[in-house]
Amino acid sequence: MTDSLSSSTQTNTDSSLEPRVLVFDSGVGGLSVAREIQQRLPGLSLVYASDNGFFPYGTKGEAELIARVDKVINTLLRQYPVDILVIACNTASTLTLPHLRSQLTLPIVGVVPAIKPAAQQTQTGVIGLLATPATVARPYTHELIREYAPRCEVISLGSSELVQLAEQKLRGESIEQAAIAQIIHSLLAHEQSAHMDRLVLACTHFPLLKEELATELPASVQMIDSGEAIARRVEYLLQGRMGTTAIPSENIAVFTKQTTEAERLEAALKNFGIYRQDYLAI
Ligand code: DGL
Repeated sequence: MTDSLSSSTQTNTDSSLEPRVLVFDSGVGGLSVAREIQQRLPGLSLVYASDNGFFPYGTKGEAELIARVDKVINTLLRQYPVDILVIACNTASTLTLPHLRSQLTLPIVGVVPAIKPAAQQTQTGVIGLLATPATVARPYTHELIREYAPRCEVISLGSSELVQLAEQKLRGESIEQAAIAQIIHSLLAHEQSAHMDRLVLACTHFPLLKEELATELPASVQMIDSGEAIARRVEYLLQGRMGTTAIPSENIAVFTKQTTEAERLEAALKNFGIYRQDYLAI
């Protein structure tokens, strides 16, 4: 367990700079959230952090994941002062938010499965939930379903393979559409799936595969993720802070391990206005 931080080391105190947000995930998934934030707040500076040294999160035990996220976030905040922390990972958010909030003073925005909007929008009462195996099993997720979708049939599928496919896609590698077809096929094998009209993408990696997923889904199924809601929340928290004269600082991607896979993300990161890659000693 690392030391908790005083607020002066956590926040971006230089008022000549635009506010800066730290978007954190186990890998490239958080970029789907970063994209929504950038669309809403184009001047905002971004530190994108990927804990690729401990990827994937979706197969890790709870205690080891809490300890790891604690350690990485504390190290990141010491090195990269920011105004807001976005845990752009359902697997981490559904487990670690109470712990992070109890020891950090900066605003923290987490991403959790979009069960509530799906339950509000469904016409048939049948919702799909696609997430990591860990998120599907989390008590937090079950509680969301109990609270917001008590009368819905929720068809859940946990897939780590989809997470890996999203990583491959962003590295510019070709991905097997047949692999995606097989995953969606097992979701559609459920006896109620013919009535499913909403599919919650409850892993931030999955919106990066939206086109590939859409190819395999019936046209009547609409996909829902939490990216836009997160961006709205960040905008709300930064109200009045986005200036017209302040200087945006350079966007940075930070990895917890130097690997050839991370280096191969250079082209994808440029699409997010990120031209610098750092490595964190952890
Ligand atoms: N992107 C992460 C999420 O939203 C998890 C991927 C992983 O298994 O590391 O759940």
